[in-house]
Amino acid sequence: MINAAITGVASYVPEKVLTNFDLEKIVDTNDEWIVSRTGIRERHIAAEGEASSDMSVKAIERLLEKTGVKAKEIDAIIVATVTPDMLFPSTAALIQEKIGASKAWGYDLSGACSGFLFALKSGSALVQTGHKKVIVVGVDTMSSILDYTDRNTCILFGDGAGAVLLEPTEDDRYGIIDNLLFVDGSGADALHMKAGGSRKPATHATVDAREHYLFQDGRSVFKRASLDMAKVSVDILNKNNFKAEDVAIFIPHQANKRIIDVAARRAGFTDEQVLINIDKYGNTTAGTLPLGLDEVVQENRIKDGDLVLLAAFGAGYTWGSTLLRYGPTRKA
Ligand code: COA
Repeated sequence: MINAAITGVASYVPEKVLTNFDLEKIVDTNDEWIVSRTGIRERHIAAEGEASSDMSVKAIERLLEKTGVKAKEIDAIIVATVTPDMLFPSTAALIQEKIGASKAWGYDLSGACSGFLFALKSGSALVQTGHKKVIVVGVDTMSSILDYTDRNTCILFGDGAGAVLLEPTEDDRYGIIDNLLFVDGSGADALHMKAGGSRKPATHATVDAREHYLFQDGRSVFKRASLDMAKVSVDILNKNNFKAEDVAIFIPHQANKRIIDVAARRAGFTDEQVLINIDKYGNTTAGTLPLGLDEVVQENRIKDGDLVLLAAFGAGYTWGSTLLRYGPTRKA
């Protein structure tokens, strides 16, 4: 049976760092509050004019360099994002042109913080039905939709991109084992952007009412995220007859350190098994999981064939988990 394997990963975050101390000068907040409530110390912010396709291109260029794959070999590009450069054309199309992936098709996918998991499933299906090289990107330029006068939200998010290469394998030591993916649209009221879509096109009034920014009811999201990210992490292990100790690394979506701690504790992971980088990047939405995967690969915390658990929760609501055996790493 043909399965999709992750044969490479790379990421990119913008140079500019926005620390909690910088935010203290912008809104009524303080480092102690942000660290104790969220685990975040700093986040990276895109430069003026730097958009999601630019960050994605940087991540993909690193991926192609590492793996020795040429842009012309890519069959498809799937981009998970809620902050596309423009509503259309797709960010995937812009990336395709910029990297010169002349035979690739592709599309954007809107799954918010779970977007990378949805895109992985989508990319896997393409690989299982004949595509040889699929690039899956998770990217968000959250700074482009944050209200830097709202302390409830502006402290939480950052910008970043990560990309993986999916290739077919028939070797059961590698590849994606299972996915549990969910949507519950009743969560739309708790986390959304009010204007700029077909419901409320941009007008002077929507701009004046600050409706082109992310809106969040933090407490409601926090409760559901804690419950569902923990449950979906435990469920996928049970369903596939794995125990916590079988997992080399658990990479949870980085929205809040306290949400991560609940999931890690319920699933029975030790601190060493859990990737936490929210302190450096904040919540990069679709970017967190590939950023995390790249970090554990770069730090040699996993090797080919190791069991990796990814889990996420986000706007929609959307949530899910993916269990995979990493590699085989393609080297240039
Ligand atoms: N600095 C200082 N005080 C702040 C603050 C900030 N940046 N942001 C909010 N506060 C205040 C609030 O105004 C509130 O004051 P009040 O009680 O006088 O109204 C107080 O701190 C406590 O707010 P509360 O919402 O109870 O805090 P919390 O412990 O729930 O933490 C979040 C708030 C946003 C960090 C938390 O709810 C959260 O992480 N939610 C989920 C976020 C998320 O995961 N989003 C992405 C999708 S996965």
